Amino acid sequence: MSLSQPLQFAYWVPNVSGGLVISQIEQRTRWDAEYNRKLAQIAEQAGFDYALTQIRFTAGYGADNQHESVTFSQDLLSHTSKLKVIAALLPGPWNPVLAAKQIATISHLYGPRIAVNIVSGWFRGEFKAIGEPWLDHEERYLRSEEFIRCLRGIWREESFSFAGDFYRFRDYVMKPKPLSPLPEIFQGGSSRAARDMAARVSDWYFTNGNTPDGVRLQVADIREKAGRHQHQVRIGLNGFVIARESEQQAQAVLHEIISKANPDAVKGFQHEVKNAGSASPEGEGNWAKSSFEDLVQYNDGFKTNLIGTPQQIAERIIELKQAGVDLLLLAFLHFHEEVEFFGREVIPRVRELEAKALIEA
Ligand SMILES: Cc1cc2nc3c(=O)[nH]c(=O)nc-3n(C[C@H](O)[C@H](O)[C@H](O)COP(=O)(O)O)c2cc1C
Repeated sequence: MSLSQPLQFAYWVPNVSGGLVISQIEQRTRWDAEYNRKLAQIAEQAGFDYALTQIRFTAGYGADNQHESVTFSQDLLSHTSKLKVIAALLPGPWNPVLAAKQIATISHLYGPRIAVNIVSGWFRGEFKAIGEPWLDHEERYLRSEEFIRCLRGIWREESFSFAGDFYRFRDYVMKPKPLSPLPEIFQGGSSRAARDMAARVSDWYFTNGNTPDGVRLQVADIREKAGRHQHQVRIGLNGFVIARESEQQAQAVLHEIISKANPDAVKGFQHEVKNAGSASPEGEGNWAKSSFEDLVQYNDGFKTNLIGTPQQIAERIIELKQAGVDLLLLAFLHFHEEVEFFGREVIPRVRELEAKALIEA
């Protein structure tokens, strides 16, 4: 994306209980439908472009309740008019034909505002609980890539054939196709396999929280590989926002979140995530280098350092944009109040800095 394009904003839909930090700190965020419908309306008013639902089939270390992502996304679309909703899909429980059909129907019901996020699996206990075979790290990504090729092929081609290691189609004609533009395909993960897959097939690469330098390295690798495949991929980065009147207040909230972390649950999570980046051949990727404090936020969101005054946060957002970020995926302690505050106090400052950068360029 060119720097002249406005940075886009997404938020994590809290369709899983317990909020987005593993802490006993007070969180006014709720996971039910009523709270989430209102949140989606607040977010679209506040200037958010996307909402991302999560898929979890079982609890593990907290997160006791989890609503299903496609059904939940559909409900949010029915209560909004502009917001795009990204439904998480996990290959294994989903196969591409069911997903292609569900998403095409949703596109006809609500207009082309539905997108998908292909996740490759990190939670071995979940797979075991639901009787899904557990593939190794590289195979999970091979399957996800075939899944994406099939999804897009079914949507694009009049008659689709495919012979892969995981999926097969013969002269398959699916009608209706989704409305145009076709649903965007996001993917989550930060390992080398994740970047390779993004550089070949995904529209968007979603990665865990990181610094501008950490992002720059990933972007350079993806752009170089995508260039070889004549493919274009945009970058989405996770971040946990604590925007307060003063930096001290914001830091005090971060300190309270971490000091009230639930140690057993964080350690349980730390154990499970060893099946993600650490299990890749190069031993890098999501959570491979995360400390206990980092893991209190599910996707390393503190590392992005969107913690301070609205002006400080806006300036750091511009640095991330200059490092190659096209979209920020955000989480908050109290979603209703803080999404509204972010839309009022931070997004306008980001837009001002973007306009200034354009004039100076
Ligand atoms: C933004 C984002 C969203 C994700 N959402 C989910 C999800 O809803 N359900 C899930 O099982 N995994 C989810 N994941 C996990 C990834 O799909 C993937 O399994 C994991 O990050 C492994 O990363 P790696 O490629 O770095 O090893 C998400 C990851 C990211 C970065």
